Amino acid sequence: TIYPDSELASVAVARDIVQLMQQRQAEGRPCVLGLATGSTPTRLYEELVRLHQEEGVSFQNVITFNLDEYYPMAPDSLQSYVRFMHEYLFDHIDIRPENVHIPDGTVSAGEVADFGRRYEQQIVAVGGIDLQILGIGRTGHIGFNEPGSGPASRTRLITLDQITRTDAASDFFGEENVPRRAITMGVGTILEARAIVLLAWGEGKAAVVKRMVEGAMTDSVPATYLQKHPHVRVILDEAAAAEL
Ligand code: GLP
Repeated sequence: TIYPDSELASVAVARDIVQLMQQRQAEGRPCVLGLATGSTPTRLYEELVRLHQEEGVSFQNVITFNLDEYYPMAPDSLQSYVRFMHEYLFDHIDIRPENVHIPDGTVSAGEVADFGRRYEQQIVAVGGIDLQILGIGRTGHIGFNEPGSGPASRTRLITLDQITRTDAASDFFGEENVPRRAITMGVGTILEARAIVLLAWGEGKAAVVKRMVEGAMTDSVPATYLQKHPHVRVILDEAAAAEL
């Protein structure tokens, strides 16, 4: 779906999420959301906060799993995704703290594999992800599944692509400060969500959006594996759709 701008698109996606939450509530089941970080979903989160504060939408029924976290990363660090999620969303809504899950950037390297397995088990234990929100990196990553990530990949430690580290440089006050690794849900993990919504804004994403939507499925552009999923929506502004 191509919207005139990211503002209209974000508001529409927020409305869809609330509708899903209400549907799950009516069924007496929790709504399990997979969440992304980055600049792309910030307006969406702001709108969810507004719907909570001004329209009384409750998130007590919502369970969330974030896609990824830099590694190593302390949760109270300025650039942590824990901090990001609290700042943009969790601190302003009534979600139960025990329902929030974000990959732990403090586990030792030897424990990451175990951590990944437990994270996936937690997702399965609540019935799987109902809706996964995604952005896309210029390398074609979803989460932090950089080029080389296959369709069966699971939650694990990954080495960040140089382009991704360059794109993150301003957040870290210089590329040399950007972590070299991250923990990310795998492509396989993401594809298990019942529905997926990928958001992309701006001309900087136009080339990778074209490769994702029109290119052959390949490990070199992990987002192409979304083509395999039966319920995926790609939500773009006009600039991101310019090369389609
Ligand atoms: C980040 C995140 C991704 C995100 C992507 C795009 O590094 N790990 O989940 O989708 O890169 O970021 P942005 O939305 O700022 O363009």
